[in-house]
Amino acid sequence: MSTPLPPVLVVDDERNMRLSLRTLLGDEGYAVRDVESAEEGLRLLADEGFFMVITDARLGGMTGYEFLARARQNWPDLPVLMITAYATPKLAVEAIRAGAMDYLAKPFAPEELLHAVARCAERHRLLQENARLRTATGVVANLSQIVGECPAMRTLRRMIQTVAPTDARVLILGESGTGKELVAGALHGLSRRREAPYVRINCAAIPEALLESELFGHEKGAFTGALKQKPGRVEEADGGTIFLDEIADMSRPLQAKLLRFLEDGTFTRVGDTQERRVDVRLLAATNRDIIQAIRAQEFREDLFHRLNVVQLQLPPLRERGEDISRLADHFLGQFNLSLKRHVRGLSPAARQKLRLHHWPGNVRELRNVIERALILETTDELQATSLPDFELEARQPLGIAAPDPTAVEEPLDALLANYERRIILSVLEQCQYNLGRVADRLQLSRHALRYRMQRLNIAGDPGADAGAGETAEGKD
Ligand SMILES: Nc1ncnc2c1ncn2[C@@H]1O[C@H](COP(=O)(O)OP(=O)(O)OP(=O)(O)O)[C@@H](O)[C@H]1O
Ligand SMILES: [Mg+2]
Repeated sequence: MSTPLPPVLVVDDERNMRLSLRTLLGDEGYAVRDVESAEEGLRLLADEGFFMVITDARLGGMTGYEFLARARQNWPDLPVLMITAYATPKLAVEAIRAGAMDYLAKPFAPEELLHAVARCAERHRLLQENARLRTATGVVANLSQIVGECPAMRTLRRMIQTVAPTDARVLILGESGTGKELVAGALHGLSRRREAPYVRINCAAIPEALLESELFGHEKGAFTGALKQKPGRVEEADGGTIFLDEIADMSRPLQAKLLRFLEDGTFTRVGDTQERRVDVRLLAATNRDIIQAIRAQEFREDLFHRLNVVQLQLPPLRERGEDISRLADHFLGQFNLSLKRHVRGLSPAARQKLRLHHWPGNVRELRNVIERALILETTDELQATSLPDFELEARQPLGIAAPDPTAVEEPLDALLANYERRIILSVLEQCQYNLGRVADRLQLSRHALRYRMQRLNIAGDPGADAGAGETAEGKD
């Protein structure tokens, strides 16, 4: 699914130049925004998305070079085309050194400009596609990334080592944030299929209506919006592994189709009659109580048995004893590197505080707590005072004040998303991350809740890849 190309930003203090660029680019189908100063340009860049900037080197106020430097600093991936008054090697070098992607000397032929713009458009498309593929691909892991020495975690690592090289289906269970995705990544990474594709689908993050076509593909015209034929993700995973995350959030009708696929390896694309076959290994995970879901008729028992060839259960963090401390050290090391800090370790009081907490959000919560603490820490040891006041947080009522709309200059959508995010986070804490209860409390279906959480980047995925995509595909 390709998103439309955002506009080009033109910065030039000469009105005629702006006009002619607008016409030239507009005729080629590009959307254009133009401003007369670098200052305005920077303001617009902060607010809106552009795929490239065309700027004159000489501007009233801030020069094109200064503008370029600022833009590079804040939007390092944004290509900037600099237009200089005359071509001298010195100016060209200066423009390129300042970080321009390209430069043109006046006067230039329209084709020269269009050629440069087309290159930037292509680059943008590739970057987008790459980002999409990155989020669509699962993260391969290895055993050493799974930290933990408590008996349950040692057994788990041994189990992974044993079952990874087989083609057995594995169902990974555990509360939210216990490391299911990490385990799935290790199962693929240690398998014979490790060089082959590893595709992850988050069944909760893709709108229900689109999940089937995402999984099995569709023919052109199969439904409104199916403009082109599209192979399914199972085809993409051919020869490799497919990881169905949040499997319990899949609708009953789709469960039936998945069952058929698991029984004989065949499937049909939506709107198609041709039966297809692929060779994929299937891994699945859920943080829901699957037995309870079967009892409630939400999950097919026959499908459960098909998936549950090997079951790996991740213990909640609060049951892992000294691993809490080990994991804290592990994350401290990681964040020292990424945040360029040099905090040596945790104080005894900090360790004690971590030991006593209940960890409803499990390892993910611990990871976030350590990151936040490291940012706050001013001494060379992580102190208990830099950790959150867990008890106070647990007792906090839902009193979430609406932001004062006059105090913030943000678009309405961003304000609402922020507010929604705070509400969901707060109810999650109160319900100890029991999604069923949270959904009841907010009167949403569980699916809708998971969907919103993914969209708002809440405890769905680790770190940066969560919710970063704009399309349904980019969000798993
Ligand atoms: N044993 C571990 N050692 C090191 N890091 C871990 C461990 N377990 C989990 N993590 C980290 O904690 C975060 C959450 O893990 P993960 O995303 O695998 O949880 P999950 O069980 O899939 O959660 P959810 O059900 O919410 O999707 C990730 O950043 C992951 O790398
Ligand atoms: Mg997960």
